[in-house]
Amino acid sequence: MTFFSAAIGIFYDIFFSRRTFLSKSSFSGPPVMKPPNASPDNSPATSDDIFSEDFKRAPKISEDFVQKLQKSFLELGIPPSPTSVESLIDDLEFDQILPPLHRFLSSAQWTSINVAQLVAKWLSPYQNKKFLDAGSGVGKLCILLRYLTDLEIYGVEQRESLVKISQEIIQTNALHRITFEQRNIHEVKFADYDIIYLYNPFQEHVCYSETLIIDKTIELDRKFFLEYTAKIFEELKNLKKGSVLITFHGYGGKVPKTWTLKYNQFVEGGFLSMWVKD
Ligand SMILES: C[S@@+](CC[C@H](N)C(=O)[O-])C[C@H]1O[C@@H](n2cnc3c(N)ncnc32)[C@H](O)[C@@H]1O
Repeated sequence: MTFFSAAIGIFYDIFFSRRTFLSKSSFSGPPVMKPPNASPDNSPATSDDIFSEDFKRAPKISEDFVQKLQKSFLELGIPPSPTSVESLIDDLEFDQILPPLHRFLSSAQWTSINVAQLVAKWLSPYQNKKFLDAGSGVGKLCILLRYLTDLEIYGVEQRESLVKISQEIIQTNALHRITFEQRNIHEVKFADYDIIYLYNPFQEHVCYSETLIIDKTIELDRKFFLEYTAKIFEELKNLKKGSVLITFHGYGGKVPKTWTLKYNQFVEGGFLSMWVKD
């Protein structure tokens, strides 16, 4: 890598990563600069790297963590004011059940506890509804919502390794009312769900950081960004009245005019927004 491209990469990491290194969770995150168990280009080298011995032994979510999560959630106001959204729990308490590489990626790629609690508050009136995390990663948001809501939770994710991690966590913790499936978002019918969550899933096709990229197991190309965002725009137009859309850092495209913005809050370097279909 030339000095010039390295400098661009560092500049990007600092200013344009999904949640900047200045956010609370980044400060509390692991102070490593190089992803553990990753090859020099940052793709996991083998499946052994992803399923390390530590992970095989400990994807167990402790009772203590669940109690703290639920207690701090109850203490948030309804709706939470901007000053009351700081979670009392450090993300590392959840992230320790993840393999080292995915723990490292957490502050940039997975929804934090802080944001998950805010999402759960906004969704309080929507109990028992079908919730889809489109691009669910290691399943962090879905699993947190499973403990904070009565929603029926679905995650779809295109990367096989991430789906395996999320499935392993729900099996080990015997969690019901939550399902993960390996699928591409563009094949999913959004109309089958009541609530859709999108955490800027296609950004990697147009702009990514060598340090914070999840892996290189999928082809990255601007054409996919254009194709997928256009597909999502069409799906959103066709959803039934009362459907809910939540985006974190947007999804790369516009939200059709037939949706009304209900909440919009700047948190951890980006907008968390909730729309309801007219
Ligand atoms: C920023 S991460 C968010 C993960 C998760 N939603 C969360 O909040 O913790 C975006 C995820 O979307 C996934 N993704 C991107 N494009 C996708 C596609 N076309 N189909 C399925 N998953 C996709 C990525 O692999 C990545 O795991």
